[in-house]
Amino acid sequence: MAPTRLVVLISGSGSNLQAIIDACQSGYIRGSVVSVISNKADAYGLTRAKNAGIDTQVLSHKEFESREAYDAALSDLIDSFDPDLVVLAGFMRILTASLVQKFRGKMLNIHPSLLPKYQGLNTHQRAIDAQDAFHGASVHFVTEELDGGPVVCQAKVPILPNDTADTLAQRVHEQEHKLYPLVVKWFSERRLTMEADYAVFDDQNLPAEGAPYSEE
Ligand code: GAR
Repeated sequence: MAPTRLVVLISGSGSNLQAIIDACQSGYIRGSVVSVISNKADAYGLTRAKNAGIDTQVLSHKEFESREAYDAALSDLIDSFDPDLVVLAGFMRILTASLVQKFRGKMLNIHPSLLPKYQGLNTHQRAIDAQDAFHGASVHFVTEELDGGPVVCQAKVPILPNDTADTLAQRVHEQEHKLYPLVVKWFSERRLTMEADYAVFDDQNLPAEGAPYSEE
């Protein structure tokens, strides 16, 4: 089985990118990150990629007149690396339908909430304000609906009495760094696909909350 070619898209710190790079280097994921693309030139994740000897690309949305024009250029850039999987890791852009359709079944995102709760921004504060007992992160296939594609797996954390958005975000981040490599590992082992509107894992259509999360 050929190693999975990953292209990772970022906008910021890239701590999830780092977890995926480490998991590729240790052999946990059967694949490698062939390029890291950022829409921001100062994203720290670009430094992480360079430190690991990985190709980096900056494609600034500010240089394009429309979302469609940006996504067309982004699509071409991604294609130039011939990826098996496109990994959105804190890429803070809303994608056009044509880009999403092009990479359907080949694009994953991580979102800091237990989807379908709290699509969009400020998820940690919203979970605290709602007095939820639990919060977490979801990895899902990307579809046209923002943060709405089929969930592959979720990691849960408790919300503690004195939590602020920052302390809660930190707890969620720690889980993200295990959850995202796990899901990419499944994809790299050809155990995970998207069929119609379902995530399919080990030949089973997954329920709305995805596959049970267990560390492998
Ligand atoms: C992560 O917490 C991820 O869940 C979130 O951005 C952060 C990126 O952190 N993504 C979204 O909010 C997408 N809607 P990182 O750059 O350190 O990996």
